[in-house]
Amino acid sequence: MKFSNISNSTKNGIPSLIGDTPLVHLSKLFPEYEIYGKMEMLNPAGSIKDRTSKFIIEESLKMGLIDRDTIILESTSGNMGIGLAQICMYHGLKLHLVVDPYINLQTFHLLHAYGAKVEIVTEADESGSYLKQRIARVYELLDEYPNSFWTQQYENPLNPLTHHQTAKEIVSQLGNAPDYIFVATSTCGTLMGFADYCSLYHNNTSVVPVDAQGSVIFGGKSGKRVIPGFGASKPSSFVNREILAEPIMIEEWESITGCKQLLKHEAILAGGSTGALVAAVKKSGIMPGQNAVIIICDRGERYLDTIYSDDWIRKNYGNKTLEKINKSVHEDLVQTGVLQD
Ligand SMILES: Cc1ncc(COP(=O)(O)O)c(C=O)c1O
Repeated sequence: MKFSNISNSTKNGIPSLIGDTPLVHLSKLFPEYEIYGKMEMLNPAGSIKDRTSKFIIEESLKMGLIDRDTIILESTSGNMGIGLAQICMYHGLKLHLVVDPYINLQTFHLLHAYGAKVEIVTEADESGSYLKQRIARVYELLDEYPNSFWTQQYENPLNPLTHHQTAKEIVSQLGNAPDYIFVATSTCGTLMGFADYCSLYHNNTSVVPVDAQGSVIFGGKSGKRVIPGFGASKPSSFVNREILAEPIMIEEWESITGCKQLLKHEAILAGGSTGALVAAVKKSGIMPGQNAVIIICDRGERYLDTIYSDDWIRKNYGNKTLEKINKSVHEDLVQTGVLQD
């Protein structure tokens, strides 16, 4: 029997639920400012990379760059892999991912559940990064598989193009372009998608890159970073500094502090790059009355054994850093009147 009264809001297939994420006013965390979070964590596979994966795969299918027999390849530390695994499974495509030992255990299991083949490289460079080896392995796989296609998130122009839509949604949800958009960086696809869109249509909006200390995207020396999905050990070919505000650099302990503040004030459990954006807003010099959007990039469940584990923080950064993080979170709660000193 056919349903005759079916609602218009019924969607067709999981890819149709990607994007169109809500915007939430973070009024408890930032009571003096108008700061909104774009809830990319609510995408069905949990991150902003659902959009990039869907756009690259579906556009490449339309352009005839891939077909049902193509093996899709990518080097990824996590979220892009999960997004690709979901969209490839939906479209019946095979996926082979090259990851590194920093991958979260949960992400590793998710990739298997979504049917991806997962290969872990083991040789880091002098700064502790596995990126170069991951890319080298992808080149080998391109030779090994005759019908293979590398989605190439670091070079593919469809990556930044994906986020013209994300930016458009924000402007439409606010009814106006915001004064600032704070964006965490890795491939810089999200960052430059926003910056391109704003430079075309809303050039009063400052698009602020937020990068990890130890990342080389905006210069500086490569250093050890253990929070995945944030920062890069090679510069991005997408970046055009002329349409960006000055980058804000964030240390890993500050990202963790930001995550804990977002959780304690707003009950939002997000990943490390979102914590960095919280820290960046606090450092940015934004004035009361101005408004801004931060991208809530992914869900915190992926980081329960890392960012949200005191044992993990102690092991990676030492007891003093754990105390510093907890002190900062406590002081912020006192300052905003949530706790009494
Ligand atoms: C959690 C998270 N935040 C931010 C980013 C940065 O996105 P982009 O690669 O567009 O610079 C990523 C990238 O994987 C990510 O996983």
